[in-house]
Amino acid sequence: MTVSKEGASWVFGYGSLIYKVDFPYLRREVASIHGWQRRFWQGSHDHRGTPERPGRVLTLTESPGAQCVGVAYLVEESVFEHLDHREKNGYERAAVSIELAASGDQVQGLVYYAGPDNPAFLGEAPPNEIARHIAESHGPSGSNRDYLLQLEAALRDLGDVDHHVQELAGLVAGLDERG
Ligand code: BEZ
Repeated sequence: MTVSKEGASWVFGYGSLIYKVDFPYLRREVASIHGWQRRFWQGSHDHRGTPERPGRVLTLTESPGAQCVGVAYLVEESVFEHLDHREKNGYERAAVSIELAASGDQVQGLVYYAGPDNPAFLGEAPPNEIARHIAESHGPSGSNRDYLLQLEAALRDLGDVDHHVQELAGLVAGLDERG
């Protein structure tokens, strides 16, 4: 079992935290959580959409037997102030058990989770509808399409295959080609 530095905590990133690392960290490890999968089921009013036209970004949904691959960071407590502000649109911190890929160690940590009761939750929809929604959404942090494609590239770098993400990236590319 890996012992965490006193005053520091692990945070698991499964979305933009994988590739947009605008915070200091003590350690970074490819990692996974079990029993959860990432889904584009959360509305974004502040990053990839607007209050009038929310985009679609990630949250987690429980799925027995599933594995969600991402990155775990060991961070000082002060980093959470920044992350809480960055991920404020419906997300809360939840405790999670994280498996570090290199060592196989299990550590306790936190993850940003937006549950079905939060006001920005959009929920499940057919993949072609989610893809069209992503292709048409933009917000202060850029296009929703770029959020999806950056995630796809980041997961490829980790050697992960996420069928939900790949399917949506393929559908969005098809929409681009058709104009
Ligand atoms: C993440 O990358 O872990 C993350 C995803 C959605 C919201 C906040 C964080």
